[in-house]
Amino acid sequence: MTSSESVNVALSGKSYDIIIEDGLLSNCVHFLADKARDARFCLITDENVAKHILPQFQAYMTSHSIAIKPYILPAGETAKNWDNLQSLCEWLIENGVERNDHILALGGGVVGDITGFAAHIIKRGCNFIQIPTTLLAQVDSSVGGKTAINSANGKNLVGAFHQPSLVLIDPSVLDSLSERELAAGFAEVVKYGLIQDAEFFQWCEDNIETFFGKEGADRAAVRSYAIKKSVEAKAAIVAADEEERSGVRALLNLGHTFGHALEAETGFSDKLLHGEGVAMGMILAFGFSEAQNLCPTGRANRIATLLAKAKLPSTLSDIDMQTDGKTLVHHMLHDKKMSAGKLPFLLAHDIGQTFLAHDIDLKEVIIFLDEMMTAQ
Ligand code: GLY
Repeated sequence: MTSSESVNVALSGKSYDIIIEDGLLSNCVHFLADKARDARFCLITDENVAKHILPQFQAYMTSHSIAIKPYILPAGETAKNWDNLQSLCEWLIENGVERNDHILALGGGVVGDITGFAAHIIKRGCNFIQIPTTLLAQVDSSVGGKTAINSANGKNLVGAFHQPSLVLIDPSVLDSLSERELAAGFAEVVKYGLIQDAEFFQWCEDNIETFFGKEGADRAAVRSYAIKKSVEAKAAIVAADEEERSGVRALLNLGHTFGHALEAETGFSDKLLHGEGVAMGMILAFGFSEAQNLCPTGRANRIATLLAKAKLPSTLSDIDMQTDGKTLVHHMLHDKKMSAGKLPFLLAHDIGQTFLAHDIDLKEVIIFLDEMMTAQ
């Protein structure tokens, strides 16, 4: 792969580019220079990124006569709340943000989601630019325009589709992540192989050691390739079904129905990160497909073997919880993916061949989960 790659998200009237380049955060001024009045940007970030990444980025921008005015959110999923949204919107308005300015979202999924939603509602819609700093945000949440805050009744229940005008991905910032956070993002990379690209899944199996290995040119190339393949897959799916209406974009939810139930059971806490829930959820989706004779046996084990190498949960006993199938299915019934009283499941005919199933008997899901829990 060359040092800079560009992937286009082709959406009528609002196409945008995703730029992937090592060191991009110190080499992006040409992408930003014309995007705000008086070369003055509002930037939203969180406490962690403000410590580890913002100072260098701000110094780089200042050296190019671009002023950054930062708003710093608390770190963590709980920051996606009404109070923070209100404070953020008032701050943006007080700072005179105009519709044609581009608000910068520098951070992980939480920063991107709340900033994108604020950009959507301020002055009936401002531009925003995603600068994702976690692997999960780089390969998933920064692309595709899903923006939201959480409601007391569930995650991401208050939100909008609002596409960014540009996504800037610097894989070298991943060095600031813990191994656990990196692994959680890796689950979403693997997801693209499982959804519709068996060859890419095999590539993940062949390159996982390098991906998590020692710093160097090989690791940088492998990480950049993984990000590029992921955002290419996501861009194609989003272009085909921007607002998740036809069932195509729903494929991106592979592992999320089982995963969200596990996240709910662990209180959406640090006990189980979102990507960890998705990892276990994908194994369960394939395991259930096998149990229903939809998929040849052995696939769930193959996926579990790969994810275990990334130190992701690969059996239910890896997750600190006491539960049963009925409780987990109860959590699923509160999922926003419910439609006409039915819960669609992403299942698989094989690795790289997933499909949306609408008529799953929840009793079968309960039996399967209870078996999985006693089989540990
Ligand atoms: N993360 C799922 C989607 O963007 O549709």
